[in-house]
Amino acid sequence: MNLSRLLAITIALSTINAHPHDNCNNEFFNRVLPSNASTLGTYHVPANGSFGQAADIAYPINATNLPALCAVIVNVTSSATSSYTFGLFLPEDWNQRFIAVGNGGFSGGINWLSMGSVVPYGFATLSTSTGHNSTGQDMTWALNNPESKADWGYRAMHGSVVLGKQLTSAYYSRKLCYSYYAGCSTGGKQGMKEVQKYPSDFDGVLIGAPAWWSTHQQLWQLTVGIINLPEGSPSYIPYSMFPLISNEVLRQCDASDGVLDTIIMDPKKCNFRPQALLCHPGQNTSTCLSPEQIKTWEALHRPIADINNTFVYPNFELGSDAQIPGSFGVYGTNAPSLYGTSYVQNYILDDASWDWKTYNYSVVEIADSLNPGSTNAADFDISPFYERGGKLLHYHGLADGLIPTGASELLYNNYLYNMSAKGINLDDFYRFFLVPGMQHCSGSVGNAPWYMGGVQTIRGVYGVPGFRDREHDALLALMAWVEKDVAPEHIIPTKWNNDTDPSQGVLRQRPICKFPAEATYVGHGNVNASSSWKCVAQV
Ligand SMILES: *[C@@H]1O[C@H](CO)[C@@H](O)[C@H](O)[C@H]1NC(C)=O
Ligand SMILES: *[C@@H]1O[C@H](CO)[C@@H](O)[C@H](O)[C@H]1NC(C)=O
Ligand SMILES: *[C@@H]1O[C@H](CO)[C@@H](O)[C@H](O)[C@H]1NC(C)=O
Ligand SMILES: *[C@@H]1O[C@H](CO)[C@@H](O)[C@H](O)[C@H]1NC(C)=O
Ligand SMILES: *[C@@H]1O[C@H](CO)[C@@H](O)[C@H](O)[C@H]1NC(C)=O
Ligand SMILES: *[C@@H]1O[C@H](CO)[C@@H](O)[C@H](O)[C@H]1NC(C)=O
Ligand SMILES: *[C@@H]1O[C@H](CO)[C@@H](O)[C@H](O)[C@H]1NC(C)=O
Ligand SMILES: *[C@@H]1O[C@H](CO)[C@@H](O)[C@H](O)[C@H]1NC(C)=O
Ligand SMILES: *[C@@H]1O[C@H](CO)[C@@H](O)[C@H](O)[C@H]1NC(C)=O
Ligand SMILES: *[C@@H]1O[C@H](CO)[C@@H](O)[C@H](O)[C@H]1NC(C)=O
Ligand SMILES: *[C@@H]1O[C@H](CO)[C@@H](O)[C@H](O)[C@H]1NC(C)=O
Repeated sequence: MNLSRLLAITIALSTINAHPHDNCNNEFFNRVLPSNASTLGTYHVPANGSFGQAADIAYPINATNLPALCAVIVNVTSSATSSYTFGLFLPEDWNQRFIAVGNGGFSGGINWLSMGSVVPYGFATLSTSTGHNSTGQDMTWALNNPESKADWGYRAMHGSVVLGKQLTSAYYSRKLCYSYYAGCSTGGKQGMKEVQKYPSDFDGVLIGAPAWWSTHQQLWQLTVGIINLPEGSPSYIPYSMFPLISNEVLRQCDASDGVLDTIIMDPKKCNFRPQALLCHPGQNTSTCLSPEQIKTWEALHRPIADINNTFVYPNFELGSDAQIPGSFGVYGTNAPSLYGTSYVQNYILDDASWDWKTYNYSVVEIADSLNPGSTNAADFDISPFYERGGKLLHYHGLADGLIPTGASELLYNNYLYNMSAKGINLDDFYRFFLVPGMQHCSGSVGNAPWYMGGVQTIRGVYGVPGFRDREHDALLALMAWVEKDVAPEHIIPTKWNNDTDPSQGVLRQRPICKFPAEATYVGHGNVNASSSWKCVAQV
């Protein structure tokens, strides 16, 4: 054996034998990174430790109860005028798999909390900053900044994933067995964009409530704000009235699925009449609606169409009213939500002085023709993802009060049309689940089961305690599909007695079914037990 070959074997052996822990330093990672990227810091986190960055204004909350891991932050130059960072958790007890998690709203920052919810499964876990530093409704960073729009639109996620995978295999000196993605809302859009544009990045993606049609979603947000305004007018419905409406929806719709249990299983089966809330003479007007307010509510619950009856965006489902007064402020206050206005000013028109009062349909046309940052995830030909063996699990809450559930149904149908035309059976690689009563990405109304592990973060908790199996945990369901070819027909979400502390026990479990099937009560047994429900085809 010649000397150089012996040397090569010795080096190879020493790499395999090296404790990965020893690689947890800037020098190691910088040797792996290309010249346009470098570390900003490397940290040892002990078992049960916490990690985060107070300067991360979008995600200031530390991940806690972490397994022992190496945390590294990397800065990547994406153009002459832009850069993004990403965070990577490399656990000592590694499952030989990689996962990337998504962001929320228009936030820029590393999503440490989401990373913390999946790293205990054993994944090398990544989150990208997306290339800017802001909270969710602040889009001022995008003004006249096409490079940062591209970073947010797709470039930062893909670039971070490529480098994150390289760092991971170098760190453990092993190849990755599988790569995954999990995200909701903007995180859902980021996952759909990856599936569409970079189909080889992931073997499996878990996507909730994707904000996939940015150009229409943001302008729909503007439109619903305008429909409800001006504040204080006879047609205006203040946030304080939505609990009243929501209770009435529940009163009229709860039994439409045959079971009185505070869960509306299928809002489309309910023939809701808001007129039941019409004020009687002399009635306290905080407890009823005027005819003008009823018309507003009806307009808010119709698909938005514009000039020449052109479809713009679907409407909220019955049941979503409960989340309207919540933190998203979807209808704005004395002006429409910044999700609409800031988007037009900074993202579409690059005109900070644009006045929402001049809004008209031409803005939608401009948005669609520019599609700045290539942000929309609207390429419905996902056959390359199918052909590489990818699997996609998609869910959306039926009581979502930020992104209408119908947006996901529309996306599902578009994929269906496109794949059918190619003779591909969508069911073989993509399954969609509606979650009755679930709100935007987490939480629920009427004590509906919603928690399925993955990135549905309960701080300091991972997976579904007591139910760490593929039937109850959507991420484990995805892994079983990718790795063992066990395709999920249903998943069983959980509602805890206390949603911040699963150790206080289960309140309810109930299956969600592969669209368009629906969970149906079998007619006997405790309605709160998953065994009392079965998936029934609707057509
Ligand atoms: C983990 O840390 C938390 C807070 O730092 C502490 O309350 C808890 O006892 C620790 N758990 C274990 C298993 O060490
Ligand atoms: C969050 O973690 C960082 C280390 O990453 C630490 O410096 C900071 O004190 C932690 N913050 C809290 C509130 O625990
Ligand atoms: C983000 O901007 C805020 C000011 O708005 C600053 O305090 C913070 O340090 C910045 N964070 C990062 C990661 O640059
Ligand atoms: C990342 O690198 C760019 C140069 O490409 C620099 O402008 C930026 O400040 C760096 N980011 C951080 C957080 O250090
Ligand atoms: C960084 O450089 C590598 C090659 O050195 C190149 O492939 C990659 O596209 C660059 N990344 C960015 C974000 O510019
Ligand atoms: C009207 O109803 C609201 C809400 O129930 C209550 O807070 C308020 O006191 C009532 N006003 C009058 C004049 O009764
Ligand atoms: C609406 O239809 C009319 C008549 O066909 C056409 O002239 C006009 O351009 C259309 N407007 C838009 C915005 O498409
Ligand atoms: C419609 O909006 C565009 C873009 O802001 C504007 O240029 C145009 O003047 C508006 N049209 C009307 C009739 O207000
Ligand atoms: C499928 O999607 C592609 C790319 O988005 C599009 O060009 C094509 O028209 C679609 N085909 C069908 C049948 O919808
Ligand atoms: C839920 O559990 C948390 C943590 O144990 C506790 O602080 C909170 O008070 C509980 N909430 C309710 C409604 O019991
Ligand atoms: C089911 O759970 C609900 C709480 O949402 C409770 O009110 C009801 O009593 C439970 N039903 C049974 C049969 O345990």
